[in-house]
Amino acid sequence: MNKHASAEIKAARIQGGVATDQRHDSAHKHVTGTAIYIDDMPEPAGLLHGCLGLSTVAHGTIRDMDLSGVRAAPGVVDVLTGADMPASNDISPTGRHDEPVLAEGKVEFFGQPIFAVIAETREQARRACRLARVVYDEEPFIIDVWDIDRRAGKVVTPPLTLKRGDAAAAIAAAPRRLKGSMRMGGQDHFYLEGHIALAIPGEDKDVTVISSTQHPSEVQHMVAHVLGVPSHAVTVEVRRMGGGFGGKETQGNQFAAIAAVAAKKLGRAVKIRPDRDDDMTATGKRHDFVVDYEVGFDDDGNILGVDYLYAARCGFSSDLSGPVTDRALFHCDNTYYYPAVQAQSAPLYTNTVSNTAFRGFGGPQGMVGCERVIDEVAFAVGKDPLEIRKLNFYGTTDRNVTPYHQKVEDNIVHRIVAELEESSEYARRRREIAAFNASSPVIKRGLALTPLKFGISFTATHFNQAGALVHVYADGSVHLNHGGTEMGQGLYVKVAQVVAEEFQIDIDQVKITATTTGKVPNTSATAASSGSDLNGMAAQAAARAIRDRLRDFAAEKYGVPLEQIEFLPNRVRVGNQEIPFGELTQQAYMARVQLSATGFYKTPKVRWDRDKGEGHPFYYFAYGAACAEVSIDTLTGEYMVERVDILHETGRSLNRAIDLGQIEGGFIQGMGWLTTEELVWDDKGRLRTHAPSTYKIPLASDRPKVFNVTLADWPENHEPTIHRSKAVGEPPFMLAMSVLHALSDAVASVADHRVCPRLDAPATPERVLMAVERLRREAAN
Ligand code: MTE
Ligand code: MOS
Repeated sequence: MNKHASAEIKAARIQGGVATDQRHDSAHKHVTGTAIYIDDMPEPAGLLHGCLGLSTVAHGTIRDMDLSGVRAAPGVVDVLTGADMPASNDISPTGRHDEPVLAEGKVEFFGQPIFAVIAETREQARRACRLARVVYDEEPFIIDVWDIDRRAGKVVTPPLTLKRGDAAAAIAAAPRRLKGSMRMGGQDHFYLEGHIALAIPGEDKDVTVISSTQHPSEVQHMVAHVLGVPSHAVTVEVRRMGGGFGGKETQGNQFAAIAAVAAKKLGRAVKIRPDRDDDMTATGKRHDFVVDYEVGFDDDGNILGVDYLYAARCGFSSDLSGPVTDRALFHCDNTYYYPAVQAQSAPLYTNTVSNTAFRGFGGPQGMVGCERVIDEVAFAVGKDPLEIRKLNFYGTTDRNVTPYHQKVEDNIVHRIVAELEESSEYARRRREIAAFNASSPVIKRGLALTPLKFGISFTATHFNQAGALVHVYADGSVHLNHGGTEMGQGLYVKVAQVVAEEFQIDIDQVKITATTTGKVPNTSATAASSGSDLNGMAAQAAARAIRDRLRDFAAEKYGVPLEQIEFLPNRVRVGNQEIPFGELTQQAYMARVQLSATGFYKTPKVRWDRDKGEGHPFYYFAYGAACAEVSIDTLTGEYMVERVDILHETGRSLNRAIDLGQIEGGFIQGMGWLTTEELVWDDKGRLRTHAPSTYKIPLASDRPKVFNVTLADWPENHEPTIHRSKAVGEPPFMLAMSVLHALSDAVASVADHRVCPRLDAPATPERVLMAVERLRREAAN
């Protein structure tokens, strides 16, 4: 092979196009500490620091608030209360006006922000906070939805009912039926970078807010609303978050609004970075749920009818509780067909922090409730739960209508589960575990294989849109901007890959830039796993517009037909000559061709009528399955995750390296939720688990001892998404159900699998131990 030919082959593919294992653009900066987070940015001259004063009762009216000690404390420049909000003391994201920036008059949870101290240093602001003297008239409070009548409780937002067929009649007519309740806990996001906002006042009404948010447009809107200025006066910027996980969809609004108000009032930059305890106490978390279920089935384990009530601890305000509890119902079927179904949500008011988005957005809670029902049926008919799962799977051509009347048209669960069953050697290990348990009195092993199907799209149809802005500079280098935010999930690199592919240039020619409301307006939160689906398409459209202009220009200038222009790696073939990309762009610039374009995308097909409970809320579904094996110590309840095998669908992955990370990380985070992460409130309504000392997220040592992850990137059944990839941000979280069910299986072995363990989540060692003892008692009776 001559030199020329090998250079040709080398250049046959650009560096970092789509479907390559491109590393995260900031990976090397994350691990060397050179990625710049907001608190790392050089501080503006005269920067002030804020700290929030939190309520010390769960519910009551403020009789007297004496802040004179706070004002007199060293370094304090100002103290703000709700009355100091210039135009509006409200940051309710749903427009229900139920969420004050700073509580006025009444407080509704322990830890609710009631004032803000602005001081010369962060330390001074924090010390001054402690000097407030607040007297409350306390009122009765509700912390736990377990304790109340869940069908009659006060709701923060209208509940939803999904219905198909006559569930009550189907259950009544079924040969067998049972009912029960399941509890599952909430979860703190535990992002490594906590909430933070830095507001820099500008001239006139202007303010720039640098915010750790998944939703810059909403922060912009909230700040404008609180200040009483048009949105054009507020610019919100975010380069990256040190994790969001849903916790920064709405929860950054408060810090941004207070920082902006103080900055405009004082004419100085203001930064607010709560410490970890305040962040955990004063910002919303995953909703914990109680699921009440009743199911009718036959002797083989076919589900005939099911009735669910999904009651959630929403906290004191609506926040995103409506869409979160809706999404729980949208996943009460997981991968199973219900001949008749009724599912209702109860988004209940409680005197706790207002709960919010968290990876899966209610979907995990929906599925965990559903999988409990599968377990119940399996134990009732004496079969392996996996058999009951497979028996009740959605069909591919019939038995495929969901409780919300959308047909499941891309069902690949049969293939996923069959392949995983085989590769994980489920049947052989099931036999081995039975033999092991029979001869091991203390340590018991458990095995479970759970599938998942997750709906992709925002259920609020209008959020399914995105914009992008692409500039090509005369030298051929590219500036990329879009409405999506980077929180570690690799969205920026994926979209950059799409743009590199479109222009056929190496990815290092594409500059990834911070998300800002000044470049792309009216964006949706980077959420619902749709970041790359939406922004990838929008950026592709923008790049295509410029590429088409370049093509037209080249055709005209060189007098060749359009068909003879081809974008090759880093160069363009124009008739029988090849021009380096950067040269063509220079020529285009000289010829006054516009080299900047916006792009826009809206998801097709989606529609949803909430009043009727009918529609097509999801563009498509993502599928996956996991098989987990655990061992438990029946004397202490402690356990180990021995082995996990995952087969998860990514479509034609844009970036397998990133997707693998999302699957592994999502699984581990889900495992934390279902096993060790426990939120505890005391009898005063005070959250006691507000630091890593009391709140246990998974450690490196908690990961499965054997962890096999395989991507199902089959070209089957895909909608024309961006390069036929599938969303991957949230779905893998729900693979962790396999661990809960493996624990349940291990517990069940102490009573020869005759009693359903009804293991609630989180299945902490205490809960596992109590379940073992309960089963032993029940089996003895
Ligand atoms: N991965 C990392 N590393 N950090 C995060 O904060 N958030 C998750 C998921 N993966 C998150 C993450 C959540 S809740 C969502 S909705 C998606 O990423 C959002 O990004 P995407 O739409 O680009 O997948
Ligand atoms: Mo993710 S919970 O949709 O931010």
